[in-house]
Amino acid sequence: MVNVIENLKELRKNKKLSQKELSSESGVTYTTLTKIEGGYIKNPTTEVLKKLAKALDTSIDALISSNTKPFKTLNKLEISKQALVNNFNLMQGFSPSKNIIPILKSNAYGHGIKEVIHCIDHLNFDMYGVDSYFEALEVLKHSDKQVLLIGSTHHDNFQYIDSPKVILAIQDISQLEFLINSNLKRTIHLKINTGMNRQGIDLPQLTKIAQRLAKSKIKVQGVFSHLHDADEDNPESMITQEENFKKAIGTIREAGIKPEFIHLENTAGSVALESELTNTFRLGLALYGYSPFTSQNQLDKKLKKLIPVATLKSTLINKHLIKKGERVGYGHNYIAEQDTITGTIPLGYNDYFIRKMSNKSFVNINGEDYKLAGNVSMNLASIELGQDDIDMYSEVIIFGNQESLKSTSKSQASIIQHAIDAETIIWELLVKLNPESIRRVVV
Ligand SMILES: Cc1ncc(COP(=O)(O)O)c(C=O)c1O
Repeated sequence: MVNVIENLKELRKNKKLSQKELSSESGVTYTTLTKIEGGYIKNPTTEVLKKLAKALDTSIDALISSNTKPFKTLNKLEISKQALVNNFNLMQGFSPSKNIIPILKSNAYGHGIKEVIHCIDHLNFDMYGVDSYFEALEVLKHSDKQVLLIGSTHHDNFQYIDSPKVILAIQDISQLEFLINSNLKRTIHLKINTGMNRQGIDLPQLTKIAQRLAKSKIKVQGVFSHLHDADEDNPESMITQEENFKKAIGTIREAGIKPEFIHLENTAGSVALESELTNTFRLGLALYGYSPFTSQNQLDKKLKKLIPVATLKSTLINKHLIKKGERVGYGHNYIAEQDTITGTIPLGYNDYFIRKMSNKSFVNINGEDYKLAGNVSMNLASIELGQDDIDMYSEVIIFGNQESLKSTSKSQASIIQHAIDAETIIWELLVKLNPESIRRVVV
């Protein structure tokens, strides 16, 4: 653990903290701290590392990292702490009495579980939501809060998921039967199928199940369902889903179960439904700074103060002078209409782009928009620079908020526009942000 010693000393000095000051800020005793820095404690406990990382405004990974060389990174995703906090507070401000479960599934919508936790863990909420147990373990490395596993889990694995911090979402009657029959003492949120017909207990089965649950060792901490059309301009099922959910809650209460968390709304629902039945929202997209509504939808205006959290930056790594009529990339489907400079960036469909963006989407350099030229490759993409002779290794903004783009006019280098270009949704583009090839940095 030589790394911990060096990293700790360096991070402490960067923060201009003495050992005594770090000890009092972190709650780690002075003796323990000096023993770690002196090399006498070789493997500090996770608890100690967590406290030190928090006080140093960093992560456990940064404390134990062996990669301390200042390698220049060509692709990075900047995560704005200020934007995340702004978005959380904005949504909380709309409904002050509701609990918020920040959704961190799919690597926190591509933003990085560790990085997002680092930015928002101090805020007032009880639990995160993730898809898989592996994501839950990652959360527990960085936070003391609870984690709700909203994704599916094979019931054989329930025996291994024994941390009291991990809450199982039960999606199906067979999972529940397994849990009751195996006599495992677990805390759960019960998912109800209110009309999406994808997951959850069907209403006709609920009375029997609720009665069995009430007699079991299982603690039903929450009951939830999921809306499927709250983001549409005329949601037809939202109210029916809420009514079905109301019936389900009634049945559960009649059986003597008193769930603490009742949740139905995602981002769109939290604005469109404003249900009096629920006390909790599960928020993904809004937290990351985007509205799920189309710009024609009145509700979109309410979310104008959300700030996009992520800015994706790449680097200009090649330049070519192309003569009129010359072509670029696989399939040679970009043809220069006049002599032009093209540039290359080390970012392809492995990392973020979708092939449908080829010859269509824009990126931004020094405040100017430039179009993709030719088919996007696996790890590379070309851009048409016209007559602009831009310096090698210049920063290329793939998408970001208006502030990061430094553009005076409205830039098309936005993930919202990219989603339109690629005929997809923002969620899909965000979760494609490859953690292997793009470094996350909190700013
Ligand atoms: C069950 C569940 N709840 C909440 C969310 C968050 O949705 P949104 O990103 O629209 O807020 C999702 C996202 O897919 C989900 O699957």
